[in-house]
Amino acid sequence: MRPDAQPGHLPVSQPPAAHLPVLYTQVLEGLQVIEDGTYLDGTFGRGGHARGVLQRLGPGGRLLVMDKDPEAIAVAEQSFGGDARVSIRRASFATLGQWDQAQALDGVLLDLGVSSPQLDVAERGFSFGKDGPLDMRMDPDAGQSAAQWLASAEEREIADVLWTYGEERQSRRIARAIVQRRAEQPLLRTAQLADLIASVMPRGKDKIHPATRSFQAIRIHINRELADLEAGLDAALARLKPGGRLAVISFHSLEDRIVKQFINRHAKAPPANRRLPEAQAFTPTLLAIGGAIRAEDDELAANPRARSAVLRVAEKLAVTA
Ligand SMILES: C[S@@+](CC[C@H](N)C(=O)[O-])C[C@H]1O[C@@H](n2cnc3c(N)ncnc32)[C@H](O)[C@@H]1O
Repeated sequence: MRPDAQPGHLPVSQPPAAHLPVLYTQVLEGLQVIEDGTYLDGTFGRGGHARGVLQRLGPGGRLLVMDKDPEAIAVAEQSFGGDARVSIRRASFATLGQWDQAQALDGVLLDLGVSSPQLDVAERGFSFGKDGPLDMRMDPDAGQSAAQWLASAEEREIADVLWTYGEERQSRRIARAIVQRRAEQPLLRTAQLADLIASVMPRGKDKIHPATRSFQAIRIHINRELADLEAGLDAALARLKPGGRLAVISFHSLEDRIVKQFINRHAKAPPANRRLPEAQAFTPTLLAIGGAIRAEDDELAANPRARSAVLRVAEKLAVTA
């Protein structure tokens, strides 16, 4: 049975035409929004999914939204600030457990990574295709910019980041080039870094820009994306109520592996260990709702960003003593 066909849950329709939130219908089906439920969107972005949740809430429902990015939070305040059902907090979803209002949640959504506006605005420094300051911070008031990090990190650390978070086979070659170049002039602009990477990459059959993997890796490192995801998943599980739903959209295999392993760890008993005298008691706290959900052809045709999106949904189980 489709989740939205269950009694008590509201049917899912298409998003407003102007917005293209990824896997919109599947997310709302997965969350099974109930009218008087409390939902947390940890990655507001431009509010495409949040708006869908809000439309399904009645007067007794609540929507809590978070984003690290001040521009996303400004949009949330402008769009929903006057709605008494909505609370807005500028912070990482990794800290959702520190938000008093985030209790007994019926659903948590994490739509990971960067938003289209972050990629589109050159000044944010996320894009190798648009020259801008080499920043890449989702929260421009926290931590080091990409330029600051590249100015001081050791060659080995840069290579490790490119390899681990970008699976960039030329990681050492690129790291060496960065360290040599910065001795002559600081790397301050996205185009400078993109050109430098392109100049040292062997000519291959790759259809993507030679700096794609390196930019992804540096962005993940600068924003501590994987550590935030791990902390956010733990916090979400702790704050969901039994029957509450967790929905997470990943955009690359490193994220999806963390989400998949998190759900499995809480849903399935670990394999028996011959070194332990007795099997450890295991009580599942999550139920996986289906497997990996990907965009269908009509969405892919309308929104190329959906190509790499993978949604996983799980439900928190009641733990009986
Ligand atoms: C893919 S977009 C979300 C799009 C949104 N679902 C929509 O429909 O408009 C990701 C957003 O999550 C935010 N973000 C990423 N990691 C975050 C984190 N750890 N904590 C809070 N916000 C985060 C980014 O700043 C960005 O605005």
